[in-house]
Amino acid sequence: MYHKRIKYNKIQNDKQMKILPLAVFMVLLASCHSPSGNQQKAEETVHHKVLTDSAKKHLILEGSSISKQVTVTLQKNLKAAIKKQGIEGAIEFCHGKAMHLTDSVAKAHHVTIRRAAKKYRNPFNQTSEFESNLYKQYILDWLSNKPLQPQVIQNKKGEPVYYSTIMLNKKVCLQCHGFPGKDMPAEREAKIKDHYPHDLATGFKFGEPRGMWVITFPNSQVPE
Ligand code: HEC
Repeated sequence: MYHKRIKYNKIQNDKQMKILPLAVFMVLLASCHSPSGNQQKAEETVHHKVLTDSAKKHLILEGSSISKQVTVTLQKNLKAAIKKQGIEGAIEFCHGKAMHLTDSVAKAHHVTIRRAAKKYRNPFNQTSEFESNLYKQYILDWLSNKPLQPQVIQNKKGEPVYYSTIMLNKKVCLQCHGFPGKDMPAEREAKIKDHYPHDLATGFKFGEPRGMWVITFPNSQVPE
């Protein structure tokens, strides 16, 4: 893995100095998640298969079911943490465990799962430019009372990616994502900032979109 990192870094260095820190992070991430770590090779050999409408429908159902499972897992654990340690303790819990719990569901389904947000708390969840545009459209649809439909779009590698909105639809969410000094004690914001100095995820209202599920399926999920 060490050699691979050097090699990858060199390529990135030559090409795009700017994205180096991100590239190192991605390689580390890739080597954690895929035992073969053969990401570069995979990118070269992938030929995009066309996603039929029926395959898309199937993956939308699959993505919805996976996102529900993560929601249930996260909310069950959040509830237990609040009961045991109160809201302040639950912040610690979310800090350490939210990603881990999400990853465990992802692993079971052989997908990757992100909870992307434009106003993010954990910088790992920050929306990419592409995701921001999709999210913007969801916000526009929401503002004009249109239904917020889940969708599947192939990424550059041809992998199908499921997107759907995450709504702030439980009162308890406001305890950590609402207006400081109104929905949540002002001191809580400071506690959150201890862990997330660049936190953008407060000031949400009940019933608003909070973020977006991004579930990436492997290429093998696209039928021939
Ligand atoms: C106890 C405080 C707390 C409560 C209650 C809470 N969250 Fe969070 N939330 C957090 C923390 C902390 C993170 C960052 C987790 C991490 O580091 O992965 C987070 C992250 C998120 C993210 C990922 C995007 C981002 O900003 O990083 C979403 C989406 C989210 N929360 C939605 C919700 C929803 C919906 C509810 C209500 C069901 C809720 N949260 C309730 C503390 C909380």
